Amino acid sequence: MAYPYQIASLLQYHEFYKKSVEDPEGFWGEVAENFQWRRKWDSVINWNFKEPKIEWFKGAKLNITENCIDRHLPAKAGEPAIIWEPNNPEERTRVVTYARLHKRVCQFAQVLKNNGVKKGDRVCIYMGMVPELAYAVLGCARIGAIHSVIFGGFSAQSIADRLEDAQATFIVTCDGAYRGNKDIPLKSVIDDALIGNKIVKKVIVYTRTRTPVSMIKGRDVWWEDEMEYAETQVEKEGVVSFPAEEMDAEDPLFILYTSGSTGKPKGVVHTCGGYMVWTNYTFVNVFQYKPGDVHFCTADIGWITGHSYIVYGPLSAGATSLMFEGIPTWPDAGRFWEITEKHKVNILYTAPTAIRSLMGFGEQPIQGKDISSLNTLGTVGEPINEEAWHWYDEHIGKKTCPIVDTWWQTETGGILISNLAGVTLSKPGWATLPLPGVQPVIVDENGKEVTEKDEDGMIKGNLCIKAPWPGILRTTYGDHERCRLNYFATYENLYFTGDGCMKDEDGNYRITGRVDDVLNVSGHRIGTAEVENAINMHTGVVESAVVGYPHDIKGQGIYAYVIYNGRMQDMDQIRKDVNQTVSRIIGPIAKPDKIQFVSGLPKTRSGKIMRRILRKIAEGEVSNLGDTSTLLDPAVVDEIKNGKI
Ligand code: PRX
Repeated sequence: MAYPYQIASLLQYHEFYKKSVEDPEGFWGEVAENFQWRRKWDSVINWNFKEPKIEWFKGAKLNITENCIDRHLPAKAGEPAIIWEPNNPEERTRVVTYARLHKRVCQFAQVLKNNGVKKGDRVCIYMGMVPELAYAVLGCARIGAIHSVIFGGFSAQSIADRLEDAQATFIVTCDGAYRGNKDIPLKSVIDDALIGNKIVKKVIVYTRTRTPVSMIKGRDVWWEDEMEYAETQVEKEGVVSFPAEEMDAEDPLFILYTSGSTGKPKGVVHTCGGYMVWTNYTFVNVFQYKPGDVHFCTADIGWITGHSYIVYGPLSAGATSLMFEGIPTWPDAGRFWEITEKHKVNILYTAPTAIRSLMGFGEQPIQGKDISSLNTLGTVGEPINEEAWHWYDEHIGKKTCPIVDTWWQTETGGILISNLAGVTLSKPGWATLPLPGVQPVIVDENGKEVTEKDEDGMIKGNLCIKAPWPGILRTTYGDHERCRLNYFATYENLYFTGDGCMKDEDGNYRITGRVDDVLNVSGHRIGTAEVENAINMHTGVVESAVVGYPHDIKGQGIYAYVIYNGRMQDMDQIRKDVNQTVSRIIGPIAKPDKIQFVSGLPKTRSGKIMRRILRKIAEGEVSNLGDTSTLLDPAVVDEIKNGKI
C-alpha cells in the first residue's frame, strides 16, 4: 500500500483512534517512521497546556522540503507535483513535475541565500496564486527561513503591521496579480507598506502582470534576474542541488496571521516536524488520496487551507496538487467544472460560500462538462447548510462521491474533525468524528464537561481539545503569553477552539460557529474589534459596534452600527467613505455589508456594549431582545430597532 498509515475501514478507524488515545507515543512514533528524518527523535511528545509547552519529535532533525520533494524524485521525477491553471482560460496551463519543482526550489533557495537571507529570518510573501508562490514558500523552508504569507487582499496598513510584528527583513512579491477581471497592483501595495519601514532589506519581485512598478535601487530586485543568476550555481553538469538546511523538529516553519477577538491579528507559529506529520496524515486519510489522483484545493495559499492542502500535505504525500490563479465565477460560473474536466480532477476541496454562490447560477454552467473524474468532495471554513450540501452532492458529486466536511483552524495546522472519504459515514452539516489523536471535550461556560443531553438528545457547549496533536500551534509570534491567554487560559488544561458545537448519540460533532467576537465571512476569519478599530479611524466617526448577521452567500455578513457626528452630507456617500477606510486599514474583505447610523449604542452602566442586543437586531429578531432595563439608556434600543436596514 502506498501509505501504510491510511485508514481502510470503519473498524480500523476505531482501532487506530483507540490506540492514538491510549498510546500516543507508540501511535505517532509509528506514523512518523514514514518520513525522511536526518536524525530520529529522542521523545515523541512532551507537553503541558499550562505554559503552554508542546514539543513533538524532540531531538529529531529534518528538512520538510526533502520530504515534500527530494524523497519523491527516484520514483516520481517526471510526475506532476503542481498543475497550474491560469486566471485566463486562454492562457497556457503549466505543469510542474517533481524534478522541475526540485530545480526551482533549489534555485530560489540559492536566490534567498545570495540576497543574505539566513535560517530563522522572517520572509514575508505577498503574491498571487502562481507556481512561484509555492517555490518561494518551499525555498524559505529549504534554507530554514520562516515564511509569513499574506493574502493578496490585505491592505498596505495590514502588511505594515504584520511586517513590524514579525520583524520581517525580506519580502517576495509580484508586480501584480490577476483575479477574475481585476489586476491587483501587489508591488505598489508593498511600496506603501514599506513607507517608514527600516528593517526590510530586500524585495524580490516576480513579473506576472507587467504592471509598471517602481524598483528602488539597492532594495528591489527582479525574480527573473536572480533566478537566472542562481541557475548556474545550483546546476552543475545536469545535477541540481542546494543542500537543505538541517532543522530541528521544533524549529518554526512559518508564521500565519489570523484574527482573534482583540484588535490585533496574531502570528500563529507552526513548526517543522509536527506540522509535516499532521498535514500529511490528515491529507492521506481524510481525502483517502490514491497515487495519481489530482487534488484540487480551491483556497488561496494566503490562508492556512492553502498552506496545508495545496502545498505541504499533498506534496509531502507525493501527490499532484492543482493550483488555480482565478476565481470560480470568471469568465463564467462554469470555471471549476471546466478545470475539473480539463485536468481530470479527482478530489475537489472548496468552501461552502463558493458552493452557495455557484448554486445561485443553477445547473446550466455544469451542463456539457464532463466532471465524472471526481471521486471525492470536501468543504472547509464554515458550517455548511443542508441545502448547499445536497446541491453539492447531487449536481457535482452525482451522488457517488463522499463529501468530507472538514473542521479545523489556522491554529490546528490541519483537519481535526471530519469524516474520512468513503471510510466513515457522512452526515449533512456535520463534521462527524475526530481524527486519531484528537480528543474533543464539550464544556459549559465554567469549563465543566457537559454530559447531560439537551431535550433534542444532543450535548451542546463550547468545543475544547484535551491533548495535543502533532499540528497544534506552538506559540503566537513574539508573545507567548498572548498564546496562553487566547487558547489555554479560558479553561484549565484545555485548548479552547472558540467554537460552539453539538454532539449526537453516535459521537458525531456539528460545529455551530464562533462563540467569541470573531466573524466568519465567506470562510474568512475577521475580528469585530479589528473592523471597529478601522471604522473608528474614519473622520467624523465617534464610535462603532460590529456584529455578524446571516448572509445567504457569505455565511455571515458584517453589520456595523456607527455613531457619526461629522459634517452631515449624503449618508450613502459617508457609507462609501467608511467602507473605503476599512479597505485601506484592513482590506476589502472586511468591508461592512450594512452600515446603520445611530445616535447611541446600548451599553451597560459600566459602559460595556451589549452586543447580544445588537446581534439580535441585525439578525432581524427584534421581538425578543431580552432584558433591556439594565441599560444606561434603554430608549436607544427602540431607535436602533426602528432604523434597522
Ligand atoms: O469557526 C470555525 C470555522 O472556521 C474557523 C477557523 O477559521 P480559520 O482559522 O480561518 O481556518 C479556516 C480553514 C480551516 C473555525 O474556528 N470552520 C472551519 N471549518 C469548519 C468551520 N465551521 C464549521 N464547519 C467546518 N467544517
